[in-house]
Amino acid sequence: MFWPKNVLVTGGAGFIGSNFIHHIFKNSSFQGRIINVDVLTYAGNLENLVEIDRSYGNSRYFFEKVDICDTEPLQEIFKKYNVDSVIHFAAESHVDRSIYGPAEFIRSNIQGTFILLEAARKYWQNRKDVLFHYISTDEVYGSLGETGYFYEHTPFDPRSPYSASKASACHLVKSYFFTYGLPVTISNCSNNYGPYHFPEKLIPLMVTNAMDGKPLPIYGDGKNIRDWLYVVDHCAAILAVVKKGKRGEDYNIGGESEKTNVEVVTAICDILEEMYPLKDNPKRVNFPAGIKEYKDLITYVKDRPGHDRRYAVNCDKIKEELQWRPETDFPEGLRQTVQWYIDNPGWVEHVRSGEYKKWLNQNYGPRRGQP
Ligand code: NAD
Ligand code: DAU
Repeated sequence: MFWPKNVLVTGGAGFIGSNFIHHIFKNSSFQGRIINVDVLTYAGNLENLVEIDRSYGNSRYFFEKVDICDTEPLQEIFKKYNVDSVIHFAAESHVDRSIYGPAEFIRSNIQGTFILLEAARKYWQNRKDVLFHYISTDEVYGSLGETGYFYEHTPFDPRSPYSASKASACHLVKSYFFTYGLPVTISNCSNNYGPYHFPEKLIPLMVTNAMDGKPLPIYGDGKNIRDWLYVVDHCAAILAVVKKGKRGEDYNIGGESEKTNVEVVTAICDILEEMYPLKDNPKRVNFPAGIKEYKDLITYVKDRPGHDRRYAVNCDKIKEELQWRPETDFPEGLRQTVQWYIDNPGWVEHVRSGEYKKWLNQNYGPRRGQP
C-alpha cells in the first residue's frame, strides 16, 4: 500500500478538493503533509478550509496561491516541499461556462495539466515511489441512451468544451505513463454533491434559489439523467485509488444512483418544505405572487446546447479491485446537503457576492503576504 508523505493537492480550495483535504485529515490514518496549490478563481474559497488551517496550518497543511499554468513557481513548490505525490483537482469545472467561454478551460484544464506533468517528471526523474493522480469525469465518455453504462474501456466521446478539455488531459496523463514511465492513476467520476458546492451547479443552485424565492430553471424537458455521488464517498474512492490503485490504470467512480433532473429538483423542494417550511421562510414576503410551495418556483427554460442525455457509471472495477463502494444513499446525502446550506447562509452570501474575496484579503493577505 502506498502512503504518500508530501501531497500536492491542486484545486484544494474548490468543492471536491476542499472536501478531500477534510477527508484525508479527519477520516484516514494519513500522517503526511498537504500542500494546497490553488489560484483562487471565482470557484476557489479558502473559507472551506478554515478549520483545517486552524488545526494543521503551517505544520501539516500549507497553502500556495499559484496558477498551475505558471511553470517556475510550480517547480519551486516541488522542491520546497519535496513533493512525492500529486492529486490534481484544479480545473474549470462548469459545463455552461465552457459553452460561453471555452478559452479558460483549454488553458487551465489542458495546458495546466501539461505544465504540472512536466514539473512532476522533471522533479521526480525516474522515481517509481511517487504518484500523479488525475481527477477526471464520466463526461469524457459522452452521452448514453436509455440503457447501458460507461466502462473504463468505453471510447471517449466528449461533447462540450469542458469534457473535451478533460478528455484531452486524460490522454496527456496516460501518455506520460507509457512514454516516460511516470507512475499515474486516473479516476473518472460521476456528478458529486454535498457541502461547499458552488451554487452554479444544479443541486446547490436549486437549494439556494428556492430558499430565496428565485426561479428554479430546469433545462429542456428535465428528463436528462445524472448518476449522483455524495462527495465524501468520492473522496474515499480517490484515497483508495491513490493507496492501492494499479499504476497506469483508470478507475470509474459512480453513485449507482441515476435520477432525472426533475426528480432531483422535486426532491429538494420536498426536503425544504420539511426542513425549512415556506410558511416560516423569512424571505417569503419577497417571493413572487402565487407561490404556495417551493415546487411552484420550477421554471422550464431553453435547453443547454449539446446537453448530454444520460450518464451512468459502471464501477465494478473499483469495487472488486479496491473494495470501495458508495456508502451514502441519495435521499440521505441530499438531506445532509440541504441541511448544510440551511446552516451556512453566510458561506452562500460570501460566495455569491464576492464578499469572500474581501474576507480572504483581510484574513490571509497580510499573514501570507498575498495581495
Ligand atoms: P471547482 O470548480 O469547485 O474547483 C476548482 C478549483 O480549481 C478552484 O478552487 C479553482 O480556484 C482551482 N483552479 C482552477 N483553475 C486553476 C488554475 N489554473 N491554477 C490553480 N488552481 C485553479 O471544481 P470541483 O467541482 O471541485 O471539481 C474538481 C475536479 O473534479 C475538476 O477537475 C473536475 O473536472 C472534476 N470532477 C468534478 C465533478 C463534480 O461533480 N463536481 C465530477 C467529476 C470530476
Ligand atoms: O458528470 C460529472 C460532471 O458533473 C463534472 O465533471 C462537472 O464538473 C460537474 O459540473 C457536473 O456536470 P453537469 O453538467 O452534469 O452538472 P450541472 O450541475 O451543471 O448540471 C446537472 C444537470 O442539471 C445537467 O443535466 C444540466 C441540468 N441543469 C443544470 C443547471 C445548472 C439544469 O437543468 N438547470 C440548471 O440551472
